[in-house]
Amino acid sequence: MSTQKLKDTIRDMVVAGKGILAADESVKTAAKRLASINVESTEETRRQYRNLILTAPGIEKYICGVILFEETLSQKTNSGILFPEHLAKVGVVPGIKVDEGLAEFEGSIEQYTKGLEGLGSRLEKYKKFGCRFAKWRAVYHITKDTPTEMAIRRNADDLAKYAKICQEHGLVPIVEPEVLIDGTHSIDDCYKVTDKVLKEVFAALKKENVMIGCAILKPSMVISGKEAAARAGVDEVAKKTIMVLKANVPHELPSINFLSGGQTPQEATAHLNRMHTLGENLPWYVSFSYARALQDPALKAWHGKNLEAGQQAFLKRAKLNSLATMGKYTKEMELDIAAVQ
Ligand code: G3H
Repeated sequence: MSTQKLKDTIRDMVVAGKGILAADESVKTAAKRLASINVESTEETRRQYRNLILTAPGIEKYICGVILFEETLSQKTNSGILFPEHLAKVGVVPGIKVDEGLAEFEGSIEQYTKGLEGLGSRLEKYKKFGCRFAKWRAVYHITKDTPTEMAIRRNADDLAKYAKICQEHGLVPIVEPEVLIDGTHSIDDCYKVTDKVLKEVFAALKKENVMIGCAILKPSMVISGKEAAARAGVDEVAKKTIMVLKANVPHELPSINFLSGGQTPQEATAHLNRMHTLGENLPWYVSFSYARALQDPALKAWHGKNLEAGQQAFLKRAKLNSLATMGKYTKEMELDIAAVQ
């Protein structure tokens, strides 16, 4: 295992003012996104969708890493360059989603993540395409009976095993424990669950001897359920999120990159920005690794045909989130097109 290689990847992915783009929708999820703009999902339309986002001119000003889906590795830009090669050429680190989706525990709504079997050999294959980091997502459902201790432990153990295998193969692991936003739960319920989940995840990473300094955490924010009667505001989300992270995340972790998890693009940007204006001393780099919050406006503007409008919409969100990592975003910027071009 080359620790230097992992450190080099961390150096290239933890860059002030930049974040990670998740463009790793599975074929099924990509079909859902395309259906939302009335575009049929085929290998070619999925390629066009990736081309829209990944070849946006100047993407590298705001994005330092992109999580890709396996199919995209062997697809090409409109100019005929393999997507991972194109990214590396413009100075963006290509990475890959390596989990194989979710499965249900018998008789329960709770889920675990598939994909540990044969992971090492898949990583070797992905490395040949230029991938330097990986991502694995575990999910936790908040209801009055869940998540159970069993699901929290199993997902933590699997995240740790995945992270260890990645580091042994020279890839930086992004560890993604997502406490789902679906439901009517309060922000305090979310805090309690996130606290338990993170405790278990870091205990498991330690037990597996994962090098925390060569890993990235991709958590959900502490937030009210989407259907909660009264949802917490920006200030409370930012404060409680930072509080739970400070209580659980070792200082040697280099970077925390949030998922957006069903927040609107504007909410996701405002929450991240507020975390940087609380006046708290943050021991890690705190940034984004959004999928929907970066891509949804671009999909709408593109509509399967208007490449320039789609790319501008993507670059606008990328720039606003870049500003948020420095606490320099304001709501007014949402309307000010000129300010973000
Ligand atoms: O696994 C999910 C993605 O990496 C993040 O997606 O920002 O739409 O929640 P999201």
